[in-house]
Amino acid sequence: MTITDTAAAPRTEARVAHHRTYLMCRPDHFTVSYRINPWMHPDTPTDTALALRQWDELYRVFVGLGHDVELIEQDAELPDMVYAANGGFTLDGIAYSARFAHAERAAEGPLYAAWFGAHGFSVADAAQINEGEGDFLLAGDVILAGSGFRSTVDSQDELAAVTGREVIGLTLVDPRFYHLDTALVVLDPLPEEGSAPTIAYLPAAFDEASRAVLEQRFPDAILVSDDDAVWLGLNAISDGLNVVIAARATGFEAQLRERGYNPIGVDLSELLRGGGGVKCCTLELRR
Ligand code: ARG
Repeated sequence: MTITDTAAAPRTEARVAHHRTYLMCRPDHFTVSYRINPWMHPDTPTDTALALRQWDELYRVFVGLGHDVELIEQDAELPDMVYAANGGFTLDGIAYSARFAHAERAAEGPLYAAWFGAHGFSVADAAQINEGEGDFLLAGDVILAGSGFRSTVDSQDELAAVTGREVIGLTLVDPRFYHLDTALVVLDPLPEEGSAPTIAYLPAAFDEASRAVLEQRFPDAILVSDDDAVWLGLNAISDGLNVVIAARATGFEAQLRERGYNPIGVDLSELLRGGGGVKCCTLELRR
């Protein structure tokens, strides 16, 4: 007779890739001309051509994995529009619009909302300050929501009302990790009914109460080190098997392999100068 202890071991069963549809914005007018996060240094010139080449590699990786990528055109006056994750949050055909914390990005909200309206979504106009999927991440049945720097706690109630989902608020405390998607990634976008998805996060990016919530809800989580998080390693996109990450986050890459994922490294060094990585450039469309 053999007794198998499954309770203690993290899940390592075969991972399955799920087809995804993303929205991206080609960085035709990318630059850093103001400073709204600690990564941005407007006095150092940027290389738009390099940003374009790096972005193009990310785009090709998604297409190569069989995902659909739709595009929104960048407004020449809005350099941060390339971070499409902030354009809103979509679920079940509804797009909850973004309402930016900083005046420099305010005009992006209506542009993204118009795009959603023209591409099959019913748009729920936000009254509360929120920066879309930068701070809202779907984790199985629930939505994880970051606040502390950009999106407000009030936006969490609004999002819950719009989507009908439970929204779990998490407080961010480190200015380098000012959006939830810089500190936490959901690795199984569609976990089995009733089971919690695997997530990875940087514990130090959250206050104590939020860390306790994460530990309780996601006991299997991958805890990522500061050395990987500083390359925005957690600013990643997973289809359940393939995880597109910053190439320099080598520790996280090894952790992912250990858990049965297929990490794919890309170099977005130029876009990192605006404070964004893989996930910031990518918004998931759930129609
Ligand atoms: N410069 C942009 C800002 O500070 C970067 C946004 C990054 N996006 C993200 N989803 N984390 O708003």
